[in-house]
Amino acid sequence: MLAKLSLQQKFRKGPLPIYGKIRFPDNPPFPYFFLSMSAKILDGNALARSLRADYKSRAALLSAQGVKPGLAVVLVGENPASQVYVRNKVNACLEAGFHSEKILYPADVAPRVVFERIAALNADPAIHGILVQLPLPPQFDSGAVLEAIAPEKDVDGFHAENVGALVQGQPRFIPCTPYGIMKFLESAGVDPDGKEAVVIGRSNIVGKPMALLLTAANATVTVCHSRTPDLAAHTRRADILVAAIGKARFVTADMVKPGATVIDVGMNRLPDGKLCGDVDFDAVREIAGAITPVPGGVGPMTITMLLANTLEAAERAAEQ
Ligand code: GUN
Repeated sequence: MLAKLSLQQKFRKGPLPIYGKIRFPDNPPFPYFFLSMSAKILDGNALARSLRADYKSRAALLSAQGVKPGLAVVLVGENPASQVYVRNKVNACLEAGFHSEKILYPADVAPRVVFERIAALNADPAIHGILVQLPLPPQFDSGAVLEAIAPEKDVDGFHAENVGALVQGQPRFIPCTPYGIMKFLESAGVDPDGKEAVVIGRSNIVGKPMALLLTAANATVTVCHSRTPDLAAHTRRADILVAAIGKARFVTADMVKPGATVIDVGMNRLPDGKLCGDVDFDAVREIAGAITPVPGGVGPMTITMLLANTLEAAERAAEQ
């Protein structure tokens, strides 16, 4: 043990770190120096910028042929987080040279009014993508709203027909957050093939499609959630760990395998007003091989993939 610690000390400056409940294996000799590495920070803003530049030029080409990509975003109510998301989505469209419409309704709007508007958007040739921001107020059956969107304009990929296509490995639209995460892995040179991937969270928006995409990329995938016993026993096996559980700093350093790629989907507001993810970033970055920050990680990539899906919908429409 002493010999190993002195090996570690050769590679680090300053005092030895404390790694929570991690048990250090003695046999085979554990590469302690590895623990002192700080993770590569995966910059979502930079990756989003380069992808959006490409989408902008594709949109310009398409517009020159008379088809300007168009996205309609429907927001019901005044949920502050949803208002920010919708504003960011519309602005990203405008910056990429897309046509974009923001359609706002009060929280107590009759569902019939929204269904009629969706039907009109389905028939509008200037609109290639329709997004209804979730969650919806309680008078709505969210599933019925998502089914009302024409599948070929469902740029969220939430319509049952598009979910089915994704399950069958023939996606028409890949849901934006897991799509952005796959792009992150690709740009970081992390190939899921043969890796252990653990997804925390089983939502229709992130957890389930994420598990499907990682499986399609040949990872061995475990989906954990609020009822999973000994969740840390699963997360410690993960070469790729995706945290989408909606609890501030839920993933602590002792839950992470040294060298793992950690993707943080969380966006939580702390009592002091600051934003933080589902991962204890400051501690986990000392253990992980690569990690996404919050903000500036998955968020900008989600919006970027919405642009990608809208552009693709417009390109398909132009081919017809
Ligand atoms: N609410 C939170 N994330 C999403 C998303 O990706 N799409 C929609 N429509 N609503 C959301």
